[in-house]
Amino acid sequence: MANLKQHKLGWIGIGRMGYAMAERLAKAGCDISVWNRTRSKAEPLAKSGAKVVDNLTDLAGCDIVFTMVSTGKDVKEVLFGPNGVMSKGASGGAPKIVVDSTSISLEESADIRQKLAEKNIKMLAAPVSGNAKVIKAGKLTVVASGPKDAFDAVAPYLDAVGRGSSYVGEGELSRIAKICHNVMLGVVIQNLCEITVLAEKAGMPRHAFLDFLNKSVMGSMFTAYKTPALSNLDFHVTFTPQLLLKDIDLGLSSGRTYGVPMPTTSAARDQVQTLIGHGYDQDFSQLLLLQAKAAGVELKSENVDVGDGL
Ligand SMILES: NC(=O)c1ccc[n+]([C@@H]2O[C@H](COP(=O)([O-])OP(=O)(O)OC[C@H]3O[C@@H](n4cnc5c(N)ncnc54)[C@H](OP(=O)(O)O)[C@@H]3O)[C@@H](O)[C@H]2O)c1
Repeated sequence: MANLKQHKLGWIGIGRMGYAMAERLAKAGCDISVWNRTRSKAEPLAKSGAKVVDNLTDLAGCDIVFTMVSTGKDVKEVLFGPNGVMSKGASGGAPKIVVDSTSISLEESADIRQKLAEKNIKMLAAPVSGNAKVIKAGKLTVVASGPKDAFDAVAPYLDAVGRGSSYVGEGELSRIAKICHNVMLGVVIQNLCEITVLAEKAGMPRHAFLDFLNKSVMGSMFTAYKTPALSNLDFHVTFTPQLLLKDIDLGLSSGRTYGVPMPTTSAARDQVQTLIGHGYDQDFSQLLLLQAKAAGVELKSENVDVGDGL
């Protein structure tokens, strides 16, 4: 069993994802200090054993600092900005390792790694798969890249946050892995919508078809997790079509860079673009509505209790 008190941890960014992740570390007994721009969002974490700090510089003495903010620009600001962890007010040295789980581009990630290296700080790029509900269920997964010794030091904490972490190599490789993951999300949801509409038009209830699929070898945590939305037409946002399009485009662009044809991805991309063009702006699983229209099927909520799939 890993000793989770071995390092002093700092956590920056207590939003939807950051809150749930930091809460799991605090509840696992880690020595964790947390900072959020809007302090009130972080305060409830004190109940779970986290220390809530007022300034980013209060985290400079931590061994490992995690960042989970919105964009690459925000990661730079919390680390290197005028009031950032590395700013002049910092006492107690600097962290040994920074772990960034924010979804950012390869270029931004490489730039941040370079700036940290100049201060002898190692960086682990550690984007995640899952949402806040998935984290609460203990099922978040992490893909990491960077120096292997940094990964070995951080892995027990990543494991405590979710189902485990995968190390894919040096540099920004994990950012590519995350892009590949989200490309699959686009292709799978499109196909899932196609076959669900086919099953319904042929005469069976959507939830009955999806029940069979979920029990089969083709079922997955994802197909099960999306079953309530597809059965009951509950499309409140987990991930927007716009963000999915951005990630598919990053995937296609990487395909061009590396000379990899991605025909199914291109087809899925066009459907997501069409979804956006028609003004659908809730969850990306509204692809079901587009598909039904194209097939001349009028969908109704089935109002069934199919659990949450987690
Ligand atoms: N939600 C998902 O399902 C999901 C899944 C995988 C990956 N991601 C990625 O994870 C990251 C976080 O997502 P989220 O859903 O947790 O977002 P969120 O709820 O909007 O939280 C964003 C966090 O970043 C902080 N922040 C933003 N800009 C900042 C700045 N300039 N300085 C300091 N703090 C700043 C916010 O502080 P305030 O509280 O003060 O606003 C908040 O704590 C994003 O990159 C997202 O793409 C999300």
